[in-house]
Amino acid sequence: MEMGFWGKLKRPIMAVAPMSGVTDEAFRLMFLKYGKPDIFWTEFVSAEGLFSEGRKFCLKPLKFNPKERPIVAQIFGSNPIDCQKTAGLIAELGFDGIDINMGCPDRNVEKQGSGAALIKDLKLAKEIIRATKKGAPMLPVSVKTRIGYEKNEIEEWIAGLLEENLAALTVHFRTRKELYFSPAHWELAQEIVKLRDKISPETLILGNGDVKTFLQANQLIKETGLDGVLIGRGVVGNPWFFSDKSPNVPELLKAIVEHAEIFDELHKEDMGEDGCYKQFDSIKKHFHAYTKGFRGAKELRDSLMKVKNTAEAKKAIESFLKLSENI
Ligand SMILES: Cc1cc2nc3c(=O)[nH]c(=O)nc-3n(C[C@H](O)[C@H](O)[C@H](O)COP(=O)(O)O)c2cc1C
Repeated sequence: MEMGFWGKLKRPIMAVAPMSGVTDEAFRLMFLKYGKPDIFWTEFVSAEGLFSEGRKFCLKPLKFNPKERPIVAQIFGSNPIDCQKTAGLIAELGFDGIDINMGCPDRNVEKQGSGAALIKDLKLAKEIIRATKKGAPMLPVSVKTRIGYEKNEIEEWIAGLLEENLAALTVHFRTRKELYFSPAHWELAQEIVKLRDKISPETLILGNGDVKTFLQANQLIKETGLDGVLIGRGVVGNPWFFSDKSPNVPELLKAIVEHAEIFDELHKEDMGEDGCYKQFDSIKKHFHAYTKGFRGAKELRDSLMKVKNTAEAKKAIESFLKLSENI
């Protein structure tokens, strides 16, 4: 089994869960500034898309800075040949590993037979893993999935995946049906660790779902015997998560500006002379996430939602600071 960088990681492993539209390069670079996780994942990319007319668009999430290493590219697909070709491309691009998404409930992803749809087709899931390994024999291959489609299917689904000798397996402790909302079933973690010990003792198991703090992540790892944890929504607006620090308000406001400046730098080719560009609005979800839990946060958030570029965001923050000084 090719373990690659996974074999060199110290445990417990703590990482940011891949989130499409959220964990882009600017977001990841903020964690390099304030507290690096053990691994970065890209947002997922379509294996089919990479070999279609939309290739240029699909390649965008595969940009990374070497400082982010180890970094894993996440793919989704339902055609083993496309996955094999994609794996070759990912190896050429210099990634440290390949992760296959087998848990995404998005209708467009499932419609193609990818993401969570694969939970209903273990045979195809296995073929995809084998083809991906074949496309990049030197890279470790991992899978991120859920505990089942409509119900707990660990005994068949997770055991079946473990038979493929993956370097790592991330389990989001919810079924496809549960989407993101009902509490994650962490009580199943130990059972999955036992299955791993029986079927594929080298495979690292990472748990995922509802982790909110660094302390909680450590406790869950200790209690369950998992090798690590992936944190998704809990790290948005919190690049300090892995350093276990709580920023004060000025530090938080400084981070908003830094995040916007990094985002600008990565989009400078699209930027007009007025500092505006079409992707700018997508940073507002981060502005939203940063502006929580302090006095006046809502007012600041409301003004940040209206800005058109980073210069206006800075002005909104300056006005907020002036107003706060006078209260
Ligand atoms: C906006 C959003 C985008 C996501 N995109 C991906 C993705 O591209 N690949 C993936 O494996 N999971 C994706 N997920 C699922 C997360 O990685 C994670 O499994 C889920 O959010 C549960 O973890 P959490 O409770 O810590 O957020 C996404 C989740 C959200 C909320």
